[in-house]
Amino acid sequence: MTDKANLSRRHFLTAATAVTGGVGIAAAAVPFVASFRPSARAQALGAPVEVDISKVEPGAMIRVEWRGRVIMIVHRTADMLGRLAGLEDVLADPASINSEQPTYAINEYRSVRPEILVVEGVCTHLACAPTPRFEVAPADLGADWQGGFYCPCHGSKFDLAGRVYSGVPAPTNLRIPPHSFLTESTLLIGAETGVS
Ligand code: FES
Repeated sequence: MTDKANLSRRHFLTAATAVTGGVGIAAAAVPFVASFRPSARAQALGAPVEVDISKVEPGAMIRVEWRGRVIMIVHRTADMLGRLAGLEDVLADPASINSEQPTYAINEYRSVRPEILVVEGVCTHLACAPTPRFEVAPADLGADWQGGFYCPCHGSKFDLAGRVYSGVPAPTNLRIPPHSFLTESTLLIGAETGVS
């Protein structure tokens, strides 16, 4: 990138920060959980949250907070994406028709970029926090488990795109918040400007 382009880029980021009233940046070494809180005023305004995902290794997940909700960001591997196929018959809403997500996340991966899942960590049953369980066929979840999220409160299960399994208490898929990418490694949660 040229000096001029760098300058322009810095100017854009500075301006974007001013407009959003205190956007902050969250980053964490994986697999540790990242917890980020924008200023109280920015939080009250529901300000977008900028997240540096450059250190989220394939297969890992971080958590950030946006509008008081936990947002889980998962860097899915090709293997994890492959495990989403063939689950349609055991999911309650495989095409996300009755679930909440931006229109650009109504696709087989429920994401802007297939490898980056951005999903609310709030169970759609009674709002418990689902636990990431990315391993295949663990003893407690059974031989058919292909990885996903498990809610310990009443046993709801979701796949690696947050799609809910049939026959569990949660009625719909985990919600996908509005999000976009400012750069290759900078995610913006809560706003749809930026690049995909
Ligand atoms: S709150 Fe998740 S299953 Fe009830």
